[in-house]
Amino acid sequence: MMRSRRSCLAVPGSNPRFLEKAQGLPADEVFLDLEDSVAPLAKEEARRNVVAALREGDWSGKVRVVRINDATTHWAYRDVIEVVERAGDRIDCLMLPKVEDVAHVAWLDTLLTQLERGLGLPVGGIGIEAQIESARGLVNVDAIAAASPRLETLVFGPADFMASINMRTLVVGEQPPGYTEGDAYHYVLMRLLMAARAHGLQAIDGPYLQIRDVDGFRRVARRSAALGYDGKWVLHPGQIEAANEVFSPSQEDYDHAELILDAYEYHTTVRRRGAAMLGDEMIDEASRKMALVIAAKGRAAGL
Ligand code: GLV
Ligand code: MG
Repeated sequence: MMRSRRSCLAVPGSNPRFLEKAQGLPADEVFLDLEDSVAPLAKEEARRNVVAALREGDWSGKVRVVRINDATTHWAYRDVIEVVERAGDRIDCLMLPKVEDVAHVAWLDTLLTQLERGLGLPVGGIGIEAQIESARGLVNVDAIAAASPRLETLVFGPADFMASINMRTLVVGEQPPGYTEGDAYHYVLMRLLMAARAHGLQAIDGPYLQIRDVDGFRRVARRSAALGYDGKWVLHPGQIEAANEVFSPSQEDYDHAELILDAYEYHTTVRRRGAAMLGDEMIDEASRKMALVIAAKGRAAGL
């Protein structure tokens, strides 16, 4: 079964207090960050903090991820080597930011294989989450999604993405001023989702930076949840519950999905019909597939 990633909590690797606090929070995933939330002069210390937090902390019940620096930086190889050599048995995935080309993923895949072999860890055991956050990344997203069997998710990085396309706004996730028709993010959210689903990957939405505006967070999260996204980043404990709720089906939808599955099972097997009525609603094999998606998410959420 796919890992649950409704809420993916960003934790700066340079902040030991946050690394401690994150362990008690109800996020589905935590990612310990070595990239943009860590100042250049604090990168080495952050690696040490992250290794210590993984080794000594209690992360049970959470997907454990480390975000390394991007493949074009001089920090990237040491991030991978130090973190995997010292805590590779406690990492579920590495997150690779600013992925623009299959070569970036191929590099990380190869380096991980070398490390896993050298350390006696299961080869292929550490997964990859790829952040798509530039025009070039989006243009190459299909090839990137197919670049490695280690890939588990594509992650939209709205802040870097908006900068990369020169979008005329400073507020991440909100519509740019002057754009009055439709949703300025529809294309990119859909494009990334298509690449993810075409390759059996999860699709994760990025951060909402106005951390005190939980209603704003919910509104923006509902947009990607409605399209089918699996989860969203959270930057603050106050956003976690909202993300877990928005990316779980409602109880009503979940119950309805289970009802469709039961009714369809009965009609196809006992009555040998491909299409049937459930109340006023006609259901067939495609309805069953839609219901399966909602039911799986509901079961994962414990509904
Ligand atoms: C996240 O990394 C972003 O750039 O939005
Ligand atoms: Mg970014």
